[in-house]
Amino acid sequence: MSLDKETTEYAAKTPRSRALHEEAAAVMPGGNSRTTTFFDPYPFYFQRGQGAHVWDADGIERVDFNNNYTSLVIGHAVPDVVKAVQAVAESGLSFPGPTEHEIRLAEMIVRRVPSVESLRFTNSGTEATMNAVRLARAFTNRAKIAKFEGAFHGTHDWVMVSVTGDTKSWGNRRRPKPIAWSAGIPAAVLKNVVVLPWNDPEACEEILTAEAGNLAALIVDPYLCNGGLVPPADGFMKRLRESTERHGILLIMDEVISFRTAWGGGQERLGVRPDLTTFGKVIGGGLPVGAFGGRRDVMAFYDPRKGGARISQGGTFNANPVTMAAGVATLNALTPEAYTRLDALGDRLRGGVRRLFANTRRRGQVTGVGSLFWLHWTAEMLTDYRSTRPKDAEMPQRVFMGMLNEGILMTQRGLGACSLAMSDEDVDRFVNALARVLARQ
Ligand SMILES: Cc1ncc(COP(=O)(O)O)c(C=O)c1O
Repeated sequence: MSLDKETTEYAAKTPRSRALHEEAAAVMPGGNSRTTTFFDPYPFYFQRGQGAHVWDADGIERVDFNNNYTSLVIGHAVPDVVKAVQAVAESGLSFPGPTEHEIRLAEMIVRRVPSVESLRFTNSGTEATMNAVRLARAFTNRAKIAKFEGAFHGTHDWVMVSVTGDTKSWGNRRRPKPIAWSAGIPAAVLKNVVVLPWNDPEACEEILTAEAGNLAALIVDPYLCNGGLVPPADGFMKRLRESTERHGILLIMDEVISFRTAWGGGQERLGVRPDLTTFGKVIGGGLPVGAFGGRRDVMAFYDPRKGGARISQGGTFNANPVTMAAGVATLNALTPEAYTRLDALGDRLRGGVRRLFANTRRRGQVTGVGSLFWLHWTAEMLTDYRSTRPKDAEMPQRVFMGMLNEGILMTQRGLGACSLAMSDEDVDRFVNALARVLARQ
């Protein structure tokens, strides 16, 4: 089925969402506050979520493999989280100072992640990476940062470089050019961002060595979670650690998504100890959150005692008690057994999709780690962001729309996430829906 036909079917099922979108477009550009969640002709409006399922304004139920872009790891409206939020909210929503809830969540994260000796909260992953980058600059007294092609680290200027898009003008694969991902990114930013090729340790080493004296930090999402979930080659992350250490470059591991993959996040899975780590999503249990932390001597730049902080971090809602309590309740549910179950759900889904591709001789691949997965529509060996680009550029959107029509929600680019609320049947429903979508292509 063509994208047009899938879209026509979607529109026929969602008249109430269309009406809401028209109201929204009168007061917001495109009717929306979140570019990533928009799709043509209009996104459906969520009415409620429970466990693994969501319902839209037209009453349609879908299994949620998007989970608010991987934030919801134990499911929607989990009673323990809702109770914690309600109990805290009854005593006041926010205050001009700290509450005990902040300490409890910080303790839980420090206990799980040995490289994080000390941390601070923000309201988003974007603010977390923005602070980590600023901190690295302050600590090293160097201006530039390095990032990987295809990696997303939020929406502040310093990381909106070489994220997604048509890679034709992105230069040599081994020496990528920094490309602005948005209008409004000044040339000064592009001059201070060095872009690295994923899974090419020799090229990375050459670039890092050439730029060593200028580089404050290398920021890395250990599983390239937004650039195709292309796994790091064996030893790649360890080589980056060695090289950054040798050159006095701080290694910032962006675990905003990958923290959901293990008790101690991606760094535990990969056995690498970064200088700084950024968090978001799951640690807020579904409410707005971010955090950055790491070496005590580096984090000391934020310490306001004894003469004042060298970096000032504000944020009216930083560490608000409602978010902190939701985070504590969520991490409490993420026991070692919970990760085993999440891994099993991810394995079942990836296994089912692989069998489907093999049986139908589809030009598709699935990557992933733990509860995360990504559907790819190319036969090329997946090594970096460029290799994940499908020849048929419309295919991810056709699949996304087809899956919506089959009662399955994932992300438009192909990323998906299982939650603890899912059953094996929910996962099988995903694979069967994909089979139907592909059969009518
Ligand atoms: C790896 C990574 N870093 C940072 C961010 C930014 O987080 P937020 O959307 O909370 O600003 C995201 C969001 O998807 C992310 O996936």
